[in-house]
Amino acid sequence: MTTTPFDFTPLLPPTLPPAAARWTGRVKFDFTGGNNDPDALPLDGLVAAADAVLKREGRTLATYGLNSGPQGYRALRDFLAAKLHRDAGMRCTADDILITSGSLQALDLVNQTLLTRGDTVIIEEDCYQGSINRLLKLGVTPVGLPLDKDGLRIDALEATLKDLKAKGIRPKYLYTIPTVQNPTATVLPLERRQALLKLAAEYGVPVFEDDCYADLTWSGERPPALHALSDRGNVIYIGSFSKTIAPALRVGYIVAPWSVMSRMLSLKTDAGSGALEQMVLAEYCSAHFTQHVPVLRKALRAKLVTLMDALREQFGATAEFDDPKGGIFLWVKLPEGVDTLKLFQRAQAAGIAINPGPEWSVNKTRAASRLRLCFANLSHEEIHQGVTMLAEICKKEFGMTV
Ligand SMILES: Cc1ncc(COP(=O)(O)O)c(C=O)c1O
Repeated sequence: MTTTPFDFTPLLPPTLPPAAARWTGRVKFDFTGGNNDPDALPLDGLVAAADAVLKREGRTLATYGLNSGPQGYRALRDFLAAKLHRDAGMRCTADDILITSGSLQALDLVNQTLLTRGDTVIIEEDCYQGSINRLLKLGVTPVGLPLDKDGLRIDALEATLKDLKAKGIRPKYLYTIPTVQNPTATVLPLERRQALLKLAAEYGVPVFEDDCYADLTWSGERPPALHALSDRGNVIYIGSFSKTIAPALRVGYIVAPWSVMSRMLSLKTDAGSGALEQMVLAEYCSAHFTQHVPVLRKALRAKLVTLMDALREQFGATAEFDDPKGGIFLWVKLPEGVDTLKLFQRAQAAGIAINPGPEWSVNKTRAASRLRLCFANLSHEEIHQGVTMLAEICKKEFGMTV
């Protein structure tokens, strides 16, 4: 006898977001997302770290929060405080850090704390899709700033702040990815960081700094974080282990003043982020992080070179891009006639996934013929093969001539 499944539909609140589609697996040539290099993942080190930390402290798993309180595993926060000082020039202690379930949860907590429907925020025009979408879902207006080869343009920031002020609008924050920007991979120079902070202070706008790619500059050098350069406590900083160790671990963090941290803690009602991940990361990173990252950077840079070579070979001058300063993405401009939203669909059908430009920008028209390619997860051969197939599709579907 078959029974009719219970119908939940009439019970769903009208404010629910649209239903998700079922996952149907990844395509063979997946140039999307922030996936990392599987061969550069420090698997043996993570296994050894798990073994050591569980044997030593495993019984603390019997408590919510590992006896470390709601801000996350103390040893991981201690590692981060020292790391952020060493690498980004920040002065913070474990008490200023909240461990989150990926930096996506960090984005949500900051947004839930500060934003309400109808607000305005300033962001980089080409920007992380996850950040843009979150703002739109909240009914917040993102005002985009154009970028050049050195990141967000300070003249545009000043003009925007002035314009908004004249309209009586005080933006809730300025969101920026200053170090290896997503998707442009630009790094904001020191002078621009100082100018940005000066303007933010002048207009009374806090800064929301998203720094998850900052360890992945090719040179290993980076300017100090905005957080480090401000003495006003007006910068909220988020970071992640997704890009340096592994995204599936889902471990990110927030550095924020207590006035904001205390409100975020009231909103983080999950009784703590995953404990095993935090323990393993603290154990592994305190001993090996500084040796691991250069190995990862080298592997990523080699894949980027393969991608850029393949694009030059297959697309010639029709694919325009700047050599990224680091990270895992290439932001590519194709000829005006190529609509990358359409290309996305044609490519998907052929087993190739790309991120179409309009999804990574608030300037949909300018981004119409742009796309973002993640080069970290595919092998060198797959990168070459995927780009060759993509060029064929562009020629066939959009009449692109090389
Ligand atoms: C700029 C930026 N912020 C935040 C995230 C979220 O990363 P995660 O939640 O894995 O830490 C990403 C992921 O790609 C990103 O590119």
